[in-house]
Formats: sequence, C-alpha cells, structure tokens
Amino acid sequence: MKRYLVTGGAGFIGSNYVRNLLNKEKDVSVTNLDKLTYAGNLDNLRDLENDSRHHFVKGDIGDAELIDGLVREADIVVNFAAESHVDRSIGKPDDFITTDIFGAFVLLEAARKHGVEKFIQISTDEVYGSTEGASFVENDPLMPSSPYSASKAGADRLAYSYFVTYDVPVIITRCSNNFGPYQYPEKLIPLFVTNAMDDKHLPIYGDGKYIRDWIHVIDHCDAVDFLIANGKLGEVYNIGGGNERTNLEITAIILEKLGKPESLKTYVEDRLGHDRRYSVNCAKINALGWKPNFEFKTAIQDTIQWYENNRWWWERIKSGEYLEYYKAHYGQ
Ligand code: NAD
Ligand code: TYD
Repeated sequence: MKRYLVTGGAGFIGSNYVRNLLNKEKDVSVTNLDKLTYAGNLDNLRDLENDSRHHFVKGDIGDAELIDGLVREADIVVNFAAESHVDRSIGKPDDFITTDIFGAFVLLEAARKHGVEKFIQISTDEVYGSTEGASFVENDPLMPSSPYSASKAGADRLAYSYFVTYDVPVIITRCSNNFGPYQYPEKLIPLFVTNAMDDKHLPIYGDGKYIRDWIHVIDHCDAVDFLIANGKLGEVYNIGGGNERTNLEITAIILEKLGKPESLKTYVEDRLGHDRRYSVNCAKINALGWKPNFEFKTAIQDTIQWYENNRWWWERIKSGEYLEYYKAHYGQ
C-alpha cells in the first residue's frame, strides 16, 4: 500500500487531488495535512469523512517536528500547501515567504532525513513571468513578477537543489490556471460566477485582455499522478490545458451561461505588476504520453453549473471572513 502525504489538501486543488486519487486507487492511504487558513475548508472534504484511507491532520508545513513525524511515515509527498492568491501577495507578502518558501524547505529537509520514494513540488507556470511571444519551455529563465510567483519560484528551485545536492527524488510541476469545483471565490472564475449569480458587479482589472491558459483541475490532478508514475527525477514538467483565453472571453462565457447582463461588467483599477499572458509549452509531458482529457467548452459550462448547484458551499465562505476581504478591496 502506498502512503501519501498530501499537504494543502483542504484547498481547491489539493482536495480535488485527494478525492480523485482515492477514487482511482484502492490500495493507498492519504495523510492530508492542512493549516486551514482562510482558503482551507473542510467542506471541501465532506464526502471523504467516512473513508478510512483518508486521515486529516490540521497543521503547518513549517512545523518541523510535526512534519518530521509525518514524512517519516510517507512514501510519496505531494506539496500543494501554499498561499496562492496574487492579490493577497501584493497586499501582504509575509505568509507567502513563510509558507511557500520556508514551508517547502521544512518538507524537503524531512524528506532528506527520512528518504521518500517521490517528492512532488507543485509549482506554477507563473514562475516564468509573462510572455507575449513563444510559450515557455521548462529550461527558460524564471522571471516571476509577484511576491506569490517569486515565492513559488524560490520553492521550485529549492526543491531542485535538494535533488542535485542530496538526491531527494524530486519532481517539479508547473501548471497553468486551474478551474473546477471547490475553488475559493476570490479567483477569477468562481468570483465572477458567484457574483453574477447574485447580480453583483464583476471587477475586471485593467482592459480585461490579460490571457491565462485554463485547465480543468482533474486534468491537473491526473497529470500529477502520471508524473509520479512516469516522470524523471529531478525534472520540471509544464502542465497546461491548451485553452488560452482573455479574461473578457471568460467573463462573456459566464454571463451567457447564467443569462446575466453585460452591465455587470465593471472595469476597475489594474492589479500592480499584472502579468499580461501566461503560456506553457507542454511538449515534454506530452512526449511521455500525457494530454488533458477535459474539453474546455463543456468543462467550463459544467463548472459554472457546479457553483449554481452548490450555493451552500460558497455562501458560507462569502458570508464570513471572505466578505471582510471583499469589502476592503471592492467596497461592496
Ligand atoms: P488554495 O489556496 O485553494 O489552497 C491552498 C491550501 O494550502 C489551503 O487549504 C490552505 O489552508 C493550505 N495551507 C496554506 N498555508 C499552509 C501551511 N503553512 N501549512 C499547511 N497548509 C497550508 O490553492 P490552490 O489553488 O488549491 O493551489 C494549490 C497549489 O497549486 C499551490 O501550491 C499553488 O501555488 C499551485 N498552483 C495553483 C494553480 C491554480 O490555478 N490554482 C495553478 C498552478 C499551481
Ligand atoms: P486569478 O484568478 O487571480 O489568477 P492568476 O492571477 O493567478 O492568474 O486571476 C486570473 C486573471 O483574472 C488575472 O489576469 C487577473 C484577472 N482578475 C480580474 O480581472 N478580476 C478579478 O476580480 C480577479 C480575481 C482576477
């Protein structure tokens, strides 16, 4: 039986990852370590409460004593835990440094001490910075431009250094923008869907022509499993959906699906240091045999539908801590 330690497994991608893994594999156990920050939410894991293969632990990846004990018992470590929202990193970078960099260091140290089979560092396509030309390949220089992406770049390269220096069996993934169920409603798609459902304005930063490459979260999760099985140690792999869209295109899809008026669109002040376009070349993982399964057109419609069907999930978030943050930023 493979013993997984998944960190950040109460967040958006981590919770999808744990559910997907337990659905696919019978003979696994998952220890799910999460600090339950504003973004961590046990509602994301409700349906796994009675699965004896899943053990939730509330804790911090920066807690060396706790991590030492958990990594000692693990075969595979998948590190999703991070502060993940660019706007928050611009407002207050502190937690990004302590979790995204120092936390990764604590995990890597424990992996070095105890030895694990695989250590997956979940990095991001944002570490490359912006491109208006060719899509980034894995050995392009890193030019992160927000405190979020810079902290992720720090962890990404630290993980690599533990492979080169100490032979820790590291694989690093750089995925593009995920969408799907259980995404915290501060990110573009869930924010706009839930706002539109309540006839609230959709705050479009700048001219709205910023481009992201969108991938369904389950395609990302499957790619991580694919790399655990087939990836080469010490390597970086881009993971992308091949669906580059402007924010205005995404907004139009949401308004149309929900039957809401264009007048909800509100152009607001641009994000500081806003990256114009993220784009990754996925030839390296494609050559190993992986490609995304979800078709964007139907997957985005299904995702919007999920938020329509699961008001209970996001209303709890928006009515509590989230509201304070939202008011501070958007005055609504
Ligand atoms: P998220 O914010 O929804 O989830 C992050 C989780 O980490 C939360 O449950 C939070 O409680 C937990 N966490 C935060 N600090 C912690 C700490 N110190 N110790 C333990 N747990 C802690 O983020 P997400 O969108 O699910 O992203 C997950 C990972 O994937 C991140 O590493 C992110 O950089 C990366 N990533 C995200 C995307 C995307 O589009 N969302 C794309 C590429 C990579
Ligand atoms: P986001 O979901 O924060 O992801 P990231 O910045 O990590 O790619 O934002 C996606 C894009 O949407 C980005 O160009 C910023 C833009 N955006 C808005 O225009 N308005 C918003 O309220 C938010 C949250 C994002």
